[in-house]
Amino acid sequence: MSDTLTIQSHKGPYDVLFGDDARSGLAALAAGDRPLHVIVDERVAALHTDRLAPLLAGPSVLRLEATETNKSLEKFPAYVDHLVGKGIRRDHLLVAIGGGIIQDTTCFLAATMLRGVDWAFCPTTLLAQADSCIGSKSSINSASAKNILGTFTPPRTIYLDVAFQDTLDPRDVRSGVGEILKVHAIDGPDSFAALAADYDRLFSEPDLMLRYVRRALEIKKAYIEDDEFDRGPRNIFNYGHTFGHAIEAATDFAIPHGIAVTIGMDMANFVSSRIGHGTEDHFRRLHPTLASNYDGFESHPVPFDRFLAAILKDKKNTGTGSVTMILPGADGRLAKVTHAADDGFTSACNTFLDEVRSQ
Ligand SMILES: NC(=O)c1ccc[n+]([C@@H]2O[C@H](COP(=O)([O-])OP(=O)(O)OC[C@H]3O[C@@H](n4cnc5c(N)ncnc54)[C@H](O)[C@@H]3O)[C@@H](O)[C@H]2O)c1
Ligand SMILES: [Zn+2]
Repeated sequence: MSDTLTIQSHKGPYDVLFGDDARSGLAALAAGDRPLHVIVDERVAALHTDRLAPLLAGPSVLRLEATETNKSLEKFPAYVDHLVGKGIRRDHLLVAIGGGIIQDTTCFLAATMLRGVDWAFCPTTLLAQADSCIGSKSSINSASAKNILGTFTPPRTIYLDVAFQDTLDPRDVRSGVGEILKVHAIDGPDSFAALAADYDRLFSEPDLMLRYVRRALEIKKAYIEDDEFDRGPRNIFNYGHTFGHAIEAATDFAIPHGIAVTIGMDMANFVSSRIGHGTEDHFRRLHPTLASNYDGFESHPVPFDRFLAAILKDKKNTGTGSVTMILPGADGRLAKVTHAADDGFTSACNTFLDEVRSQ
């Protein structure tokens, strides 16, 4: 399957190239006249040296370890100095090779250096391939807050080669599957049921995985083309994220993002039924697949006081005493809901983390 997917954005259309198109596209970039500045995950550079040789042989290559600290504002002066030292100009191209951390770092630099330089992206994690590579967002950290600075800056082209998945740690594969589950849940019960039925085979059948990666991008495409700047319909992609972010913060990011989001979706479904918004039936329908995807993290300690402090400090909730989140309603449809952080809400959260998660 190598049909190009084209995304419309405020900067014009951009393409996701698959398979051979992605490989030959990257080779053409490396052989072309346009000066490139490559920013690459050092682990990916070491594991895929042959595949990436022409790009890594260029005159401007910045190898970074993919850590949250490295996409923090405090690190950016060194990146800027590197690019200035390599003579960056507005008509050059930044090329990101890695997962979401390298994407966010490169995208933020592309948005801000010289008031805007083009960038291209070769996503190497399943999460970046199936979800974050489209949608324009960059988010970087400050010392005190995750993802607090950001821009909407789409890449020029995305080179999506599933061969990079071969070397991923299994937990990073499940992290990507978490976002694929989210997108299919957003698309509706039939989409989720089809994926749930194929869930076990996904991990051993690359063609099947590619089909779901592509389908996840197609579903997301419709929302980001309609609401690129996340002012309305696109908010629904936050499903599992209000709870997931609080779980990540409470555990010092020991749980990979997409797995925390998987726990967060299960938690959203459970809490929704407990506060009388959604149904227990809906929670039970999704629970087995979601629980499989966070297997191994079902009893990872999540200190409740830290969880609660984090959810009340979320960008959207600060100082309101309430929590805004995406929850399933009585008909199972997902929508944005604001609910008081009252005893009913906090005890539902506590019950989920303490008991339900491990069942
Ligand atoms: N901008 C967005 O729209 C967006 C969306 C979601 C998440 N994010 C951000 O993305 C980050 C998480 O990104 P992620 O989960 O894609 O991965 P990551 O960049 O955090 O990388 C995860 C791990 O996988 C390794 N890795 C990457 N590719 C590999 C490969 N092919 N083989 C072996 N190892 C490989 C990395 O070295 C790292 O150890 C977070 O910082 C999150 O905030 C951004
Ligand atoms: Zn996410």
